[in-house]
Amino acid sequence: MNEKWSPESWRNFPAKHQPNWPDQAELERVQKNLADQPPLVFAGETRQLMRELGTVAQGKAFLLQAGDCAESFDSSANSIRDKLRVILQMAIVLTYSGGTPIVKVGRIAGQFAKPRSNPTETKGDTELPSFLGQIVNDVGFTFDARRPDPQRLLTAYNRAAATLNLLRAFTRGGYADLNKLSSWNRDFVASSAAGARYTQMADEIDRALRFMAACGLNPGTTPTLHEVDFYTSHEALLLNYEEALTRRDSLSGDWYDCSAHMLWIGERTRELDGAHVEFLRGVSNPLGVKIGPTATPAEVLALCEALNPERRPGRLTLISRMGANKIADSLPSLLESVRQAGHVVVWACDPMHGNTYTSASGRKTRHFDDVMSEIVQFFAAHKAAGTHPGGVHVELTGDAVTECLGGSDDLGDDDLERAYETMCDPRLNGRQSVDLAFQVAELLSANNA
Ligand code: PEP
Ligand code: CO
Repeated sequence: MNEKWSPESWRNFPAKHQPNWPDQAELERVQKNLADQPPLVFAGETRQLMRELGTVAQGKAFLLQAGDCAESFDSSANSIRDKLRVILQMAIVLTYSGGTPIVKVGRIAGQFAKPRSNPTETKGDTELPSFLGQIVNDVGFTFDARRPDPQRLLTAYNRAAATLNLLRAFTRGGYADLNKLSSWNRDFVASSAAGARYTQMADEIDRALRFMAACGLNPGTTPTLHEVDFYTSHEALLLNYEEALTRRDSLSGDWYDCSAHMLWIGERTRELDGAHVEFLRGVSNPLGVKIGPTATPAEVLALCEALNPERRPGRLTLISRMGANKIADSLPSLLESVRQAGHVVVWACDPMHGNTYTSASGRKTRHFDDVMSEIVQFFAAHKAAGTHPGGVHVELTGDAVTECLGGSDDLGDDDLERAYETMCDPRLNGRQSVDLAFQVAELLSANNA
């Protein structure tokens, strides 16, 4: 690896999963325009996230990273609010029942670009470029919709800014007040078994807050009860976009990718001598790397060295995504070698991407039981290795979709047609997400016992 880094040094390395932009000159013009736009996040915020993730790496907190597989440019304000609400509900369940501080990171406000297994999609006799996320092309199956359009990078930036503005308002402006826990549990989550359990927990927290107030400990003036720290993240896939939003921090002189607080490298782009590792090693944000079942201990150690040579706790999160039937074979040796090498990382479990299959009706889906099985085995592997099961990374939406099977409503194949809305991978709906949080909280509290 070339030691000299700059925001554009990735251009000297092979970059996988980049679109075939039809007009390079237009792409460069758009990139220049983006470079003149204000940053979306600020260096000080990413440093705060790094500190919080540092406590996760040391076993004192747990990471909840969650949100859409591929965000839509057309998400309504209500849909964004509902996604945030489900993530905050999960975080409360994990904090209260799991007994651990939760670091909250959304796959949101920039999660627009998708790597695809096949560069093209065929329907009948027609073969078109695959949908690569709305930052590149559109989901409709026409030649026009699928043509990569650089102007979409600007739309993505503007959508991310609008989403972030709403998230900042909700998390700072009173919506996330702990006194309002019960009012979050409206709509279709409330009528489920997990929703009833949530109501009971919210009542207990209400009573505790009233008790504190009665004792003279005034919850009304404690900011941590009224506001939450919520961070953004996405896969740093489109390097032209990420480069354009990379700025030098005037305080520290370090480079930050100001498109999100945390960026991750996907399973398909984590080659050591590839452009994605080259780009991300030079920015000072907290980083994630997806680790699939074929990763070897040597590869994972080399990634740790390349991305976190100074071994700063909180800098690197390794997100294993093995599949329920592979994790028991593939994760233990990775945990062992990272621990032995003395790297302090956050280990998080993505129980979604290794458990995707096509249902009898032809829909891409995941079963709740496989998702939970991978998480259970993740905790067991960490117990055996003496390492900290540091977090979960899930794809969800607050909308009442039917994309993943199972859960307490026991969604079956026939339910998939009813509300299958995702543009990419199947997501847990609100009920399944809160359900999952209660089950993870039990694992967490058993692990802490
Ligand atoms: C994703 O997180 O949506 C994704 C594509 O994951 P992976 O890189 O693990 O396949
Ligand atoms: Co996905």
